[in-house]
Amino acid sequence: MGFSLFSHPRLCLFVILFVSVSVVNGGHTYHITNYGAKPNGKTDSSKLWATSIDLPPCSPLRVRITRRSSLPIVNPQVVIADSGSTVDISGGEFLLNPVRLSGPCAGPITFAVWGVLKAPEKTFLDSSDWILFEDLQRLTVTGNGVLDGQGAYAWSVNNCKVNPNCEPFPTNLKFENVIYGRIEGITSRNSKFFNIKIVESQHVEIENIRITAPADSKNTDGIHIGRSQFVQINNVDIGTGDDCISLGPGTTNVVISQVNCGPGHGISIGSIGENENEEDVSGIIVKNCNITGTTNGLRIKTWAPSPPSKVYNITYQDISLNGVKNPILIDQHYCPNDQCQHQGESSVEISDIRYLNIYGSSQDELSAKFNCSGKVPCKDIKIKSLNIVCNGHQPTKAACYNFNGKFDHCQCPNRCG
Ligand SMILES: *[C@@H]1O[C@H](CO)[C@@H](O)[C@H](O)[C@H]1NC(C)=O
Ligand SMILES: *[C@@H]1O[C@H](CO)[C@@H](O)[C@H](O)[C@H]1NC(C)=O
Ligand SMILES: *[C@@H]1O[C@H](CO)[C@@H](O)[C@H](O)[C@H]1NC(C)=O
Repeated sequence: MGFSLFSHPRLCLFVILFVSVSVVNGGHTYHITNYGAKPNGKTDSSKLWATSIDLPPCSPLRVRITRRSSLPIVNPQVVIADSGSTVDISGGEFLLNPVRLSGPCAGPITFAVWGVLKAPEKTFLDSSDWILFEDLQRLTVTGNGVLDGQGAYAWSVNNCKVNPNCEPFPTNLKFENVIYGRIEGITSRNSKFFNIKIVESQHVEIENIRITAPADSKNTDGIHIGRSQFVQINNVDIGTGDDCISLGPGTTNVVISQVNCGPGHGISIGSIGENENEEDVSGIIVKNCNITGTTNGLRIKTWAPSPPSKVYNITYQDISLNGVKNPILIDQHYCPNDQCQHQGESSVEISDIRYLNIYGSSQDELSAKFNCSGKVPCKDIKIKSLNIVCNGHQPTKAACYNFNGKFDHCQCPNRCG
């Protein structure tokens, strides 16, 4: 698990990093000026996190990492008070080793990044996360700063394509067991692995952020959500080397809107059915999104064979797809890198899926492919107003296997056959 610089079972510990910082806590002032942090993007600043400030559970805490444009870096301020806390840290680029911010704590906590935080390039590759927030409530990550995972080296040694048991590299930003969380304003860049992960969390909003990584970077999924409920993603630009957004087992009640996705592998539900006892995925709405130049558009993928679980009540509405290779795809024979035996079918039941007003262009003559399970065929699939052309004008087709559904008002011959 994560590289733990600190954690405490009872208190909401928070630790301050970077540059010259002074901390006022209950009348005490801590000067963290002499800990050697340098805003040069090279010197490790994370040991400053070891200077922790204990707060009673549920104390409000605000942390801001600020960049003061062109001002020299002098006396940035960190103030942590009993009634509410502020940390102000002036800008520049800071190297930060993996950190873990742990509760339990009821917050509110604000963590604002205005400068550029850089992950180490070649060290701590075995840490599962770079910046981890866990067991917190009312947490806001804000600012217009950048989390730069400096992932190029990690991608060059990533062998997950040939080694199914490969160890993942650090995720740029992870929320684990965060209730009432928000991520806004920031940019996540060049993560070594997934950019943002939300797991075992509820009521999380992600808004007005950008996620970038080169199209050929490995496993740089934009946002992954797993075992979480009531998540909203709105107005987000994502271009990476893997899924823009992926929703794993146990994810329910998610609304994804105004997302610009591409390059990458599109918006995916899955992979589902890799492990025993996975929880269902349901209540997902994807609407008003633009997906451009991706390998897949709207994809649901399940392993085969797989233990039983369900994917249902999914709505895709008003989606524009531009030059997407597989605009609509249900793949119940998912097997990345050909690592399975192809024996047996998936037992993941896919039902009640709606595709409403999906339009644009495909790189392929198939606009939709439903390759469902021979054991539990897809059912109650509704496709209404599907208008996707190939090569600028040619009509596209749909291919359907083990499929029960209905096409309505789709551009001919936009139907199975
Ligand atoms: C999608 O692209 C169109 C045309 O470029 C643009 O008008 C629209 O605002 C975009 N939608 C989103 C959600 O960004
Ligand atoms: C389907 O999901 C939507 C969105 O989460 C939810 O509002 C709706 O109640 C669900 N429908 C059913 C029948 O559960
Ligand atoms: C469905 O998926 C299986 C496994 O990938 C593949 O062998 C098969 O050709 C696919 N069917 C179609 C018709 O694409």
